[in-house]
Amino acid sequence: MIGRLNHVAIAVSDLASGTAVYQSMLGAKVSEPQAEPDHGVTVVFVELPNTKIELLEPLGENSPIARFLESNPSGGIHHVCYEVDDIIAARDHLKNEGARVLGTGEPKIGAHGKPVLFLHPKDFCGTLVELEQA
Ligand code: CO
Repeated sequence: MIGRLNHVAIAVSDLASGTAVYQSMLGAKVSEPQAEPDHGVTVVFVELPNTKIELLEPLGENSPIARFLESNPSGGIHHVCYEVDDIIAARDHLKNEGARVLGTGEPKIGAHGKPVLFLHPKDFCGTLVELEQA
C-alpha cells in the first residue's frame, strides 16, 4: 500500500542552526523557511537526490513538537512520511486493521500542499508516521 518515502522529518530547536548543518556542513540544497501555523511548525526542506529531509522548528504556543524537543534538546528524528495513492482508502484500511489515526482522522493540507494524516507511533514500530497523498 505505501509508496515512496516522501521525507524524514527532524525536529530542531533552532532552524538556522539546522539549516547551517545541512547547507554548509553537508552541502545540501535547503529551501527558505516556510511557516505552517496549522501544524505548529516552521519548516525548511532539504532536497536530496532520492528524498527530502524536513527540519521542523516549533511555531506558536501549542506546537506538537515542543514536548519532543524537551525530551530531545539537541533535536531528533520526529516522523517519516510515506506516499499513498489514495489517502482516504489508506486511512480506512488502517483503521480496519486497528491502527489509530491522530487528530480528527480527517486529512489536513501538509507542507507540500497535499492532504496528510498522522498515525499513532505505538501502532507503527514506535515511529510517528505521516501519510501523504501522492
Ligand atoms: Co512531515
